[in-house]
Amino acid sequence: MNPKFLHTALGLFALLLPESSLAQSCSTIPSEYSFSGSSLLLPDPFTFLNGTKVVTKDAWACRRDEILALFQAYELGPLPPAVETVSATVSSNRLNIVVSANGKTLSFAPSIRLPSGTGPFPAIIALGGASVPIPSNVALTILNNEEIAATDPRGKGKFFDFFGRDQKTGGLLAWAWAVSRIMDALEKLGPAATKINPERVGVTGCSRNGKGAFVSGAFDSRIRLTLPQEAGSGGMGCWRIVAEMKKNGTKVEDASQIVNGDQWFSTDFSKYVNDLSKLPLDHHFLAGLVAPRGLLVIENSGIDYLGPVSTYGCASAGRLIYTALSSERHMGFAQAAHGSSHCQLPASLRADVTTYIDWWLLDKTTPASIFKTDKTYNFHLGRWVHWTVPNLV
Ligand SMILES: *[C@@H]1O[C@H](CO)[C@@H](O)[C@H](O)[C@H]1NC(C)=O
Ligand SMILES: *[C@@H]1O[C@H](CO)[C@@H](O)[C@H](O)[C@H]1NC(C)=O
Repeated sequence: MNPKFLHTALGLFALLLPESSLAQSCSTIPSEYSFSGSSLLLPDPFTFLNGTKVVTKDAWACRRDEILALFQAYELGPLPPAVETVSATVSSNRLNIVVSANGKTLSFAPSIRLPSGTGPFPAIIALGGASVPIPSNVALTILNNEEIAATDPRGKGKFFDFFGRDQKTGGLLAWAWAVSRIMDALEKLGPAATKINPERVGVTGCSRNGKGAFVSGAFDSRIRLTLPQEAGSGGMGCWRIVAEMKKNGTKVEDASQIVNGDQWFSTDFSKYVNDLSKLPLDHHFLAGLVAPRGLLVIENSGIDYLGPVSTYGCASAGRLIYTALSSERHMGFAQAAHGSSHCQLPASLRADVTTYIDWWLLDKTTPASIFKTDKTYNFHLGRWVHWTVPNLV
């Protein structure tokens, strides 16, 4: 819907409805809005675009909608409106999904590997494949995300064949859209058909697919556990901290570089990559979108390109949103090096991944909090965060 129209429509509703009915109506960005912040300060998650402070959990739900809208407008591109119909069938090792709208169809068939037994089992959706250990009592479904939206060139893939090649949407949100259609299919078919419990689903992926897994968990609240692995910049890395690392001489992938070649972001993101002071979000907000659901960020301290300080620092800021929601332990951060190899989980982090899967998907005991790195950083959160953390009630 045209944002201006929605804005006007909401104004009308606001006159007719009591405030409590507006929970779903907070996501519009005023058409005249422009942000002017600092490239050295992480934006405040707890202030609405109109300047009002977020002080309750209900208001946070509303601010979360606003942040979802900001990610679409500034960085990821628009998520298509949910007007299409989704039908699904399950065969022995495939979930066959058909999305249709306006006489067009999009079909894709993620693989399914089920544990033996009758279920229902929890499941992990892996973008491209899983490079964390999946317990034998958890189902694994693999999405061929590059077939949905190619990293390169822009506009290639089933998402664009279906919605049109001129979409501003980048790959990350197109992949997340497909993950949500898997969730639709799992819910629609139900555990009797799929042997999968749609209320115990996690999502993972590594590197670019880790960025996609993170965005999937951020946008779809039905996902109970988000496990982004070595996603670096565009995942847990805050663009502003990345930019400072780059300035300091680290060979980290920064915003201005990431928009060249790899088509993961909105075409509009390029307007902000060279002036981050105009970007009303940073990636601590991405963690905040997942909150208070389970999130374990798995990072690699041994690869400069992934921006180890930025992922650590940005996770520290993102966790403050969990703190505000009295769920600090729900977000874990586990960072270690494994020589110079990428997407090979270091032995020292295996137990952390298992702990989060046990906790969120298998309903085992709540563990102690995990927030660790094998490096020592000279990182001062107070330098980047000039907002206070409310205790949302
Ligand atoms: C600011 O926006 C929020 C979310 O839409 C709303 O709840 C609040 O009432 C607004 N504040 C003002 C002063 O308009
Ligand atoms: C960049 O270098 C300055 C000066 O040494 C230091 O204070 C700062 O923490 C560094 N920034 C990052 C993100 O590593």
